[in-house]
Amino acid sequence: SAGSARDLVEKLCAPVPDFPLPGIIFRDLTPVFADAAAFRTVIDALIEPFQGTFDVVAGIEARGFLLAAAVGYAAGTGVVTVRKAGKLPRAVHSEAYDLEYGQATLEIHRDAVTPGTRVLLLDDVLATGGTLAAAARLFERGDAEVVGCGVVLELEALAGRGLLPGRRVHALSTL
Ligand code: PRP
Repeated sequence: SAGSARDLVEKLCAPVPDFPLPGIIFRDLTPVFADAAAFRTVIDALIEPFQGTFDVVAGIEARGFLLAAAVGYAAGTGVVTVRKAGKLPRAVHSEAYDLEYGQATLEIHRDAVTPGTRVLLLDDVLATGGTLAAAARLFERGDAEVVGCGVVLELEALAGRGLLPGRRVHALSTL
């Protein structure tokens, strides 16, 4: 359930001070993924609010891949990878965005989705929102419909939902 997903994330998520830069507290979810019961609970809780509303699930590099792969398997959908620049071999859509620390570009293959495809976006953490906002723009450039965003952890102080106006954002836990 959503409640037990939140409890497990709170118990297992490890705060790491000064990573990757001084002053940033990195929230490391790898212990959540490594715990069998927690991983299953998290995957089920990510699917639950969006059950039946998406045709494909998109995972954002890198930790979002783990979530999207499991969700796609459990929900019976295909998986699309949203990748950092230069990784995809064929024609891409590209979107630049600002990170909490630095700048980056995300890409999808242009033929990864067809117009009208309903896409669920997944990532581990919602921080400033730049990553999910860029990912959503990528799919909308292909005339796909972004039905929502699911994350394991939302860092509320960074107000990431401000970059996702009008979007359905579901966070399993918040800090
Ligand atoms: C982290 C995290 C999200 C993003 C959230 O990824 O996994 O993808 O930052 O930040 P935002 O809401 O401020 O955009 P990171 O850039 O560290 O990439 P990685 O997963 O490939 O290490």
